[in-house]
Amino acid sequence: MTVTLSRLVNLVLKLGKIINRTKNIYLEVLKQKIKLYLLIKIIDLKFMEKKEDFKGFNKDEYVPILRDESISFLYDLAKKLQPKTILEIGTYIGYSASILLSSSPNCTLDTVEIKEENANLARENLKNFGERAKVFCQDAKDFIETKLKEKKKYDFIFLDGPKGQYIRYLPILKELLESGGVLVADNVYFHGMVKMEGKIPHKHRSIVNNLRQFINEISIDSNLQTTIYDIGDGISVSYKN
Ligand SMILES: C[S@@+](CC[C@H](N)C(=O)[O-])C[C@H]1O[C@@H](n2cnc3c(N)ncnc32)[C@H](O)[C@@H]1O
Repeated sequence: MTVTLSRLVNLVLKLGKIINRTKNIYLEVLKQKIKLYLLIKIIDLKFMEKKEDFKGFNKDEYVPILRDESISFLYDLAKKLQPKTILEIGTYIGYSASILLSSSPNCTLDTVEIKEENANLARENLKNFGERAKVFCQDAKDFIETKLKEKKKYDFIFLDGPKGQYIRYLPILKELLESGGVLVADNVYFHGMVKMEGKIPHKHRSIVNNLRQFINEISIDSNLQTTIYDIGDGISVSYKN
């Protein structure tokens, strides 16, 4: 009886040591994984160009470039998905376009911007990407209608143009999107107003209503799997079935 008890105690002690060792190994692996993740992040950020270095960065009082947390989100998403063909609506001076091009080295990107000054600056800023980047100076609606006629397909669409028009663009963008592709839209909360209860200031009312309609459409469409992230000014991500 005493022998059995002491064996049992030994066994429990041994088991304890094994559990302890396993826990330590597990913690070490976790630490290495975190280190590797941070290292990759640092390398990624190093390769990302700074928006302040972009030509035209200081030209406007309000710089309508993606917020930092949204840039990071967009980069990570595109890096994970590695799209081959990207469409961006709303180029400005080409910063988010450069993020997308850097995230997916094998992609080509079409980006459309209505203002000639911005389109020219974007062409300058995206020179390094050569033929991979095409900047079109046109109204986005005309551009996507042309692409629809050409039966062009994209596997990643980034919508960052006029916010009040998202809902008008949606039916065409769904057609342009490849099955399994993703539609990402920025500013869907429009400075928080889309989620706000009560009266919306008159000058923003139609944009807010249109964005609410856009969110509703992408959320109920059975052909899309949509998630809305509370990042930056609200980012929607919709995968097409
Ligand atoms: C929010 S900014 C884009 C910022 C850019 N995506 C970035 O983060 O670097 C929106 C851009 O859409 C352009 N835009 C506005 N209306 C447009 C239209 N109807 N067609 C094409 N571009 C338009 C604006 O001139 C502006 O440069």
